Amino acid sequence: MEIWKIRGGNPLRGSVRVQGAKNSVLPIMAASVLVPCRTELTNCPDVRDVRASMDILRCLGCAVEQDGDAIYIDSRPLCRSAVPDALMHRMRSSFTFLGAILGRCGEASLTRPGGCELGERPIDLHLEALGALGARFEETGERILCCADAGLQGTCIRLRYPSVGATENAMIAACAAKGETVIENAATEPEIEDLQNYLRQLGAEICGAGTDTIQIRGISPVERVAYRIMPDRIAGATMLCAAACTGGEIELRGAVREHLGPVTQALCAMGCRMREESSAIFISAKRALRASPVIETGPNPAFPTDAQPILMAASLRAAGTSAFVENVFSDRFRHVEQFRRLGAEICIEGKTALVTGVRELYGAPVLATDLRAGAALLLAGLSARGTTTVLDEGHIARGYDALDIQLRSLGAELEILREMR
Ligand code: UD1
Repeated sequence: MEIWKIRGGNPLRGSVRVQGAKNSVLPIMAASVLVPCRTELTNCPDVRDVRASMDILRCLGCAVEQDGDAIYIDSRPLCRSAVPDALMHRMRSSFTFLGAILGRCGEASLTRPGGCELGERPIDLHLEALGALGARFEETGERILCCADAGLQGTCIRLRYPSVGATENAMIAACAAKGETVIENAATEPEIEDLQNYLRQLGAEICGAGTDTIQIRGISPVERVAYRIMPDRIAGATMLCAAACTGGEIELRGAVREHLGPVTQALCAMGCRMREESSAIFISAKRALRASPVIETGPNPAFPTDAQPILMAASLRAAGTSAFVENVFSDRFRHVEQFRRLGAEICIEGKTALVTGVRELYGAPVLATDLRAGAALLLAGLSARGTTTVLDEGHIARGYDALDIQLRSLGAELEILREMR
């Protein structure tokens, strides 16, 4: 258990560099087992989910080393196709290993990613996509045995919903298939393009990522790949919203402006002043904020669901009523109850949360119910009067690299107390 102790009230000021993208590095680490090869990844965030991926790779027989922001993976010695339950449960995105192991070994044995952090998270789209490529599944309890005895066959896969994870699994497995695969209604998130760029380096013939149609024509494997992970758009959004929440002024270095469009547009509409240069985004929130326009989450290019709790934190003291419509996950308003403990006025009607800005928030003990909710509570605590303690069972460290150090460098007063259990 980690306890974040925050004394709110300081406007954040200064300059920070955005970390590498967690949601990019995870599928890329999984994809590294697709062919026997050595991969060097740089700009990797040092976060718990990345360490969980390293453990899965080691368990499969790969050699893995970490040195600063670099991760070296040698997938040549891979000798297993099963991932133990305990490793699968450490993070939900472990399921992206399915397509990669299946592509490499012709079989894979994984368990259902458990838990219920954001509501039900089924895997039917993953299985349908891999099934279309010729994989067969057998479920025994939680374990899913997957095999492609006759090898994977390229085909047309039309996803019923543009799931990020299912698109990634299908892209990776399709590289190992005979013939051409077309994925229609594919997710278009920037992380999909990063995966495509890595797969190309690995020798794959693949195009279309970033549009809703991706074409894959197999792979001529190379022996060595060096790849730099793109910047993390959600960590970037977190920093911009931290400045907005606290009436601060910061420079965010290294972010990709286009990836942050929906978030920067909302912050501008709330009254923040933004300036964008090629390598940095400047935000100034010296004036009191006004309510955001209606924020509707959805698959890219709509507002990203991961940034919903974070922007909501910035709207808690904004004048007027802000509406947030959550269309991606069925249970992604659990932070609302925690915001209320700080004095926020929010009511939920179905998929919509209506936030009526209050003059002040007041520090209180709150619980991080998931990764982004945890980050959002830190931001709310930074903008509240008095002391907020955020109790966190390791969610925040799953996705943020040294967030406490970054926030302190901007003038935040906070510390992490660790409780051993
Ligand atoms: C990824 C991100 C996560 C982000 C999400 C949506 C990673 C590691 N995680 O998660 O941070 O919040 O995209 O942008 O990249 N669904 C099904 N059946 C399936 C798969 C998904 O019904 O087989 C549903 C989900 O329940 C959810 C929606 O599709 O309602 C979106 O999920 P998906 O895009 O798959 O998200 P993830 O890949 O899990």
